Amino acid sequence: MSMVFLNGKHLPIEEAKVPVLDRGFIFGDGVYELVPVYARVPFRLDEHLSRLERSLSGVGIRNPYSRAQWREIIFKLVDAQPFEDQGVYFQVTRGVAKRDHAFPKNVEPTVFMMSNPLVNPPKEQVEKGGRAVTAQDNRWLRCDIKSISLIGNCLLRQLSAEAGAAETILFREGKLTEASASNVFVVKGGRIASPAKGNLILPGITYDVVTELAHANGLPLDFRDVTEAEVRNADEIWVTSSSKEVFPIVELDGGKVGEGRPGPLFRRMYDLYQEFKHKVMRAGKREAVSA
Ligand SMILES: Cc1ncc(COP(=O)(O)O)c(C=O)c1O
Repeated sequence: MSMVFLNGKHLPIEEAKVPVLDRGFIFGDGVYELVPVYARVPFRLDEHLSRLERSLSGVGIRNPYSRAQWREIIFKLVDAQPFEDQGVYFQVTRGVAKRDHAFPKNVEPTVFMMSNPLVNPPKEQVEKGGRAVTAQDNRWLRCDIKSISLIGNCLLRQLSAEAGAAETILFREGKLTEASASNVFVVKGGRIASPAKGNLILPGITYDVVTELAHANGLPLDFRDVTEAEVRNADEIWVTSSSKEVFPIVELDGGKVGEGRPGPLFRRMYDLYQEFKHKVMRAGKREAVSA
């Protein structure tokens, strides 16, 4: 039986219940995080907690815990699971109140946390690469907030799911933003490019790790507008997220990306990422490690 955390208590998932008037249920009024855990060591935990703080303040929900309290709850949950590699999901909603769009006064935020086995793409899948389709990015204009209101992302992800593809890559006004559940990097002529942070993309923790690894290893990386035409003519396309890590897209809307197989810069970044993960695991005991 899987142990979860709800409002101060660690309990079996079957016993975790939320009232139907929770604003997360009624309005999707909340924010969330997903932290990958390798060999029981949370990866980039402080960065995930900083992003949670930014998301909470972005939507005006009080942060119910200090950094130290969040860390303690997460470590306890991780230790309670029978598996080594985990994805710790946690969300904070505005709380339970009579249904009214305006914020209620004096409510306690609802905090829910669970940890599932972490499933990263297996090596064979990484060797083959994946397919993606494209769509217009029709989400709201605060994609920098990691909101639980994910209907836009779900509808867009469904397009690729129905096409049997791994991701839906998004364009807004002719420019690349991100994908339905990951950030996107393209490579052309030996240079890597990705959209700069702003309100149109989620500031990915994996995007930051890839950035640090590129800088530390002399790989040329530019943050700039990337046009739809550039994506369609790229030599390589990568998607990045805490669960996909760095993953190569080798087919876009049915056409080959570059040679139709994972490219050399992808291979280099993939190896650097795996090495870095092992460095973090070796440091163990939840220390911050930089590239
Ligand atoms: C829309 C979107 N963009 C980017 C990402 C990647 O973020 P991270 O690397 O922090 O997992 C995610 C992850 O869930 C996402 O949902």
